[in-house]
This record gives sequence, C-alpha cells and structure tokens, in this order.
Amino acid sequence: MNIHEICNGIYYVGVNDRTTHRFEGLWPLPQGVSYNSYIVKGERVALIDTVHIAQSAKFLARIEEIVGDRPIDYLVINHMEPDHSGSIQAIKAKYPQLKIVGNSKTVAMINNYYGISDGIEVVADGDVIDLGGRSLKFVLTPMVHWPETMMTYEEQEGVLFSGDAFGCFGALNGGVIDSQMDTAEYFPEMYRYYSNIVAKYGTFVEKAIARFDGVKINYVCSTHGPVWHDEIGRVVDLYSLLARFEAEPGVVVAYASMYGNTEELAETIAAELSRNGVRNIRVHNLSKTHLSFVLADIMRYNGLIVGGPTYNNSLFPEVERLLSALKGRDLKNRYVGCFGSGTWAPVSGKNIKACLDCMKVEQVAEPFDMKCSIAAGDIENCRTLAATMASKVMNL
Ligand code: FEO
Repeated sequence: MNIHEICNGIYYVGVNDRTTHRFEGLWPLPQGVSYNSYIVKGERVALIDTVHIAQSAKFLARIEEIVGDRPIDYLVINHMEPDHSGSIQAIKAKYPQLKIVGNSKTVAMINNYYGISDGIEVVADGDVIDLGGRSLKFVLTPMVHWPETMMTYEEQEGVLFSGDAFGCFGALNGGVIDSQMDTAEYFPEMYRYYSNIVAKYGTFVEKAIARFDGVKINYVCSTHGPVWHDEIGRVVDLYSLLARFEAEPGVVVAYASMYGNTEELAETIAAELSRNGVRNIRVHNLSKTHLSFVLADIMRYNGLIVGGPTYNNSLFPEVERLLSALKGRDLKNRYVGCFGSGTWAPVSGKNIKACLDCMKVEQVAEPFDMKCSIAAGDIENCRTLAATMASKVMNL
C-alpha cells in the first residue's frame, strides 16, 4: 500500500516517525523524520539499510509487499547508527540465509550491537556485487557520519544510496521523490539536520562528494528525507557549501537575558545592523529557541554576535551550551562579536571572547560588558560592534 517504485526495480520501503520528540534524544522533530530503506531487485534482491527498531513490524510488512515469498539475498549496511541498523535482527530472523554486506569497520559494530558475527560479506572500497542484471558498487565514505559509513551505487539506473549525506529532517508527506512534492519545507530542515548531526564532519563530506565527480547519478537516496531527482544539483551544492563552512551575508544575534536588560543590548545591536544595511538578521533568545534552530542559522550566515549576563561569576548556562556546541562543530569562516553584562562584577563579555578565541573565526570588535542596564556608553558600544560587523559580512 505504501510502496513506491523509484525507478525500474528500485523501491522505497522506509517508514515515517511522527512520534519521537527528539532525534538522538537531543534535536526536536516538529515535522517528524523518515528512516529510509530501499530494495534493489535483480535476479537477486538486496535491501539497503533498515529502520529504527520501533518500526520493525511495519518495515517487514513493506518488504513482503515487494518481494512476496521470495527471500532477500543481501542486506547492505551503509551505516550502523541504530536509526538505520535497528531492524537488523528482525530482518535476519525472517531471512536467515541473507548475507549482510558491510566493510571491515561494520563487522565489530554489528557484533557489539546485535551479537551477529556470521553471514557477513566484507567489502572494500570499489567492490561490486552482481545481483544478476544489475550491480551494486561500494564506496567507503568514513565519518559521514560514523567511521563505518559507506555509500552504495547502483550502476545501471544511476542510483546513489548515500547514507546520511544529503539527508534532512521532516517525515515524508505522501510522496517520496522530490518531483512528487513541494520540497520547500525540507530545505530549512536540511540546514538544521546538517548543523546538528553532520557539521563536525564537513571535511569528510567534501571528500565523499569528490568521489562522485563525473559519475552519472539520476537519484540520490539518503537515509532521511526525500529521494532527490529534480533537485540533486541544489542539494549537493548546499551540502558542499555547508561542508566548507561557506555562508550567506547575514548576522545571527544569539543572546540570553534574565530580566530584559541584556536583551536591550541584543535589540540595539540588531537595529544598528539593520541601519547599516544588513538584511538577513536572526535574533535568538537562547533561553527560548532550541539550540538546533540557532545552530542552523549560524551555519547559514557569515556573522555571529553572542551575548549574555554574568552568572555565578562565569557564563550564563545557555550561552555556555551554545559556545560548546560551536566548538564541538569546529566553527570556522565566521565574523564574530560578543557582549556581556552583570550587576557588580560583569565578566561574561570577556569570557565569551575567550571561548571564541579558541575557534577559527575573526573577532570584529573588542567585547564589552554592561553594568545593570543600558546606558549611553553601552549604546555606543552596540553601534560600533554593529557597524564593524555589517561592513565585514557585506564585504564593504
Ligand atoms: Fe540517521 Fe547517522 O544516522
């Protein structure tokens, strides 16, 4: 019933998850997420990846709709993260003769997660499995997003099963291929997915993309989100851009404020940025907006200003969380600035600067700390920071 043929002999058998609140226990899923799996039918049948364990029963039923009583011959494991490997045991129980196909790094993970150590065919980079009438070629793409990750290329139809690369949040709303839907809602979720899940591994994403230079690809089938066909170019370009930490002109003002005084600095800076001609300005209250949305905007725009009050003689917890997330992702190629505040011994501006000093970013102005509430000198500091930032992000 929910089966989609992507192209001749290649089927989508993934599932939607509209129930889980947080992906990886961390990242909100307002529009859900899909766990994608595919069947490639030649004389022999291969299943590419599985789905989250919670949906094993639904998944098995979908597979049976395609293959009927005949067995599955191969289960290709492109990625072992449990949102994709979670149904391995269920598949193995139903099709005990199938061969699991993975690379040398996959083997230990299958054993450690699922206690499976037999019936595994280990493939190396460039190896090909003949399904009879069609073939699957394996390309090792480590750290996109785990060490064992690989991609599988179906050579006859030109279909790339890309693992997490080119994926996005958002369950599939009826259609599966981009040509069947309005994809507008998926692109903001691609920024958020990339920023939160893949961003640390940009160098590896770039290397993986380079592996397919000149290769004819008609469909990109990732583990999450739509199958890309009409918009392959746009999606690959966006992933390449993000992998290089390249960004559009714009400024994110990410702040925390306990009683609204520090917020006045953020609002003043935003207004001054606008007065200086910056059109893309995103102001986020870190105590309200989930970090995942803030990170997505930081990946998108080339300027960032961070501010918050002094708390326990140190950073405000939500500000500290943001800075730690940026460090964890090796943020680079950004213009940055910061500000702080406090009542009797403000140190947060200086402390935020010290955290930013550890990243490959360019600080555009000295930090400043406000005492208690906004005064003429603070407004002047906001003006200076905004004007300097504006000229940098707009390359004036
Ligand atoms: Fe959707 Fe890295 O797994």
